[in-house]
Amino acid sequence: MRVGLATDHGGFELKEELVAKLKAAGHEVVDFGAHQLTPDDDYPDYVTPLARAVVSGEVERGIAICGSGVGASVCANKTEGVRACLIHDHFSAKQGVEDDHMNILCMGGRTVGACVAWDLVETYLNARYSQEARHLRRLGKVALLDAREARVS
Ligand code: RB5
Repeated sequence: MRVGLATDHGGFELKEELVAKLKAAGHEVVDFGAHQLTPDDDYPDYVTPLARAVVSGEVERGIAICGSGVGASVCANKTEGVRACLIHDHFSAKQGVEDDHMNILCMGGRTVGACVAWDLVETYLNARYSQEARHLRRLGKVALLDAREARVS
């Protein structure tokens, strides 16, 4: 799969580890940075290009990291068409895709260890949207919110 990653300083080490593991597992990786550890950099500068690449189809799935994963998820969801979620557990990494069509997995570099993070990433990438009628209906309602916001602004 073609996977994009982005992080600020808060997840830099974790992102580097995940890039190496993803490549070793045969995935194509697009690294949106940070490309070096800069203690005062800002997650929107990396997460927004990743979010746009997910929506445009340049990458199939995204992984966004910051210190807690909170800022990354808030930021990613500002791009229309993104369904980004902060994930800490295996169940949600799978069901978030199957039911909710999550397209950006967010994690905290300061809150999750490398082994757990890799399990979340593998689980997320192996999951597929179910396309079941009830989930399509629910996502349709979510998409209407995007459309309404676009009309108001
Ligand atoms: C950076 O120190 C930290 O605030 C950021 O990485 C992230 O955790 C924000 O949610």
